[in-house]
Amino acid sequence: MGPVPDLTDRAQACARRLTEADSVLLASHIDADGLTSAAIASTALERAAVPHDVVFKKQLDETEIASIAASDHDTVLFTDFGSGQLDVISKHEAAGDFEPIIADHHQPADAETEFHLNPLLEGINGASELSGAGASYLLARALAAATGDPDGNRDLAALAVVGAVGDMQAVDGELVGANRGIVEEGAEAGVLEEGTDLALYGKQTRPLPKLLEYASEVRIPGVTNDETGAVGFLEGLPVDFHRGDGEATDGEWRRWVDLSDDEKQTVASSLLQRALERGVPPGKAERLVGTTYTLTDEATGTTLRDASEFSTLLNATARYERADVGLAVCLGDRGDAFDRARKLLENHRRNLSEGLEQVKRRGVDQAEHIQYFDAGDEIRETIVGIVAGMALGVEGVDGSRPIIAFAEKNDEETKVSARGTGRLVGKGLDLSTVMTEASRSVGGDGGGHDIAAGATIPTGEEESFVEAADSIVAEQLG
Ligand code: C5P
Ligand code: C5P
Ligand code: ZN
Repeated sequence: MGPVPDLTDRAQACARRLTEADSVLLASHIDADGLTSAAIASTALERAAVPHDVVFKKQLDETEIASIAASDHDTVLFTDFGSGQLDVISKHEAAGDFEPIIADHHQPADAETEFHLNPLLEGINGASELSGAGASYLLARALAAATGDPDGNRDLAALAVVGAVGDMQAVDGELVGANRGIVEEGAEAGVLEEGTDLALYGKQTRPLPKLLEYASEVRIPGVTNDETGAVGFLEGLPVDFHRGDGEATDGEWRRWVDLSDDEKQTVASSLLQRALERGVPPGKAERLVGTTYTLTDEATGTTLRDASEFSTLLNATARYERADVGLAVCLGDRGDAFDRARKLLENHRRNLSEGLEQVKRRGVDQAEHIQYFDAGDEIRETIVGIVAGMALGVEGVDGSRPIIAFAEKNDEETKVSARGTGRLVGKGLDLSTVMTEASRSVGGDGGGHDIAAGATIPTGEEESFVEAADSIVAEQLG
């Protein structure tokens, strides 16, 4: 029995079918979750001696599915997408084009297929309890079992956690539900450690003042976005934060990972105190500390040791048409591909911060129940959803309304991304339905999760789309 008993039968059926395939095409999505999904599935297929090729798609639509059908593979394994396009896929299945096997966590379209592994089919939440990488991990565990190694492939739990964290599945910083079973298997296999630590991005790699200055998770007046303030804060503590004599980079600032446990404790509690003194509400300040997931096989001080930093590195590759680079890193390349990925990461971080600045500068427009902005061609359509999610947390943007973002896709099409909050979902918000229905009403298509979803619409239909989305949200929250 695997880490998620309710999905074991489905995983076993998919695994058995894969071991019987002549040639498999593995198709996956271009984000952190899609890349880790592909790496997990590809490793498991290789270990089970199932020949396969791997392709990545920005989005699965009729055209892409037709091109997949035209490749001469008898079996297609879809990871981190496929469920939402099941209506189209099942037509190809009926025509005998290929046998589909799906390991996904998106809202399924209205159609059936035999080999379908998706948490939503068993009442498990696909936005917070199991990601595409998690579904792929269950498949990998079943593949090991099908080939005589019931404990095999547990090392792949580390990548599954990177995928879940990359999809923002952690609830208040912590993985829950089916994801927990995966974390536990990873810990037993010795590849993962769960701990409590400062919940700021960049603990492995950023010099301490930069870690504090750039952290946007909890804004601390006089520290966040304040270089002098961050340095002043550190210099006021009874710890020397500079590297000592003889170290390779003598005199430079230390990073969080270079601190002893006692030193970490000093910084964390002083930071919390500073936040409270400067008026950050206690409920918010608490979020400075949270659960972290460490990949213990990776070197200390590298981007890959922290699940959150690892996932951002992967988004920096795949969302910029370099999924090959991210996949190579997931499969163990610590040479050229890793170097390339780190360069891409610098570019990605710059784009995210410029994108967010642009939104702050221009502001967002208000409809009755939603807010929105049009990034035109200034934010890449592949990252506009990430920027929209970040914007929900900044000053000047209402954190209690869903946010919708438009970005230019090409001359004829516009990309739409929508993000909500756990609280709104609790009140009935389902952005997957909003994106699907509002986009169809203007001749486009979409899908996703209750808390985060997307669509493509014909350019020029933005206003009608906002009206349609606004009235669906009104019904959901009414
Ligand atoms: O296609 P996929 O499921 O991999 O993408 C999920 C998207 O939803 C990610 O961009 C992720 O950041 C977003 N998300 C979110 N908040 C959540 C869950 C997911 O913004 N709580
Ligand atoms: O692209 P974005 O990050 O906004 O996507 C949010 C979620 O919506 C992802 O899970 C993505 O796979 C899904 N999505 C979809 N159909 C689209 C666009 C996005 O299912 N046309
Ligand atoms: Zn996903």
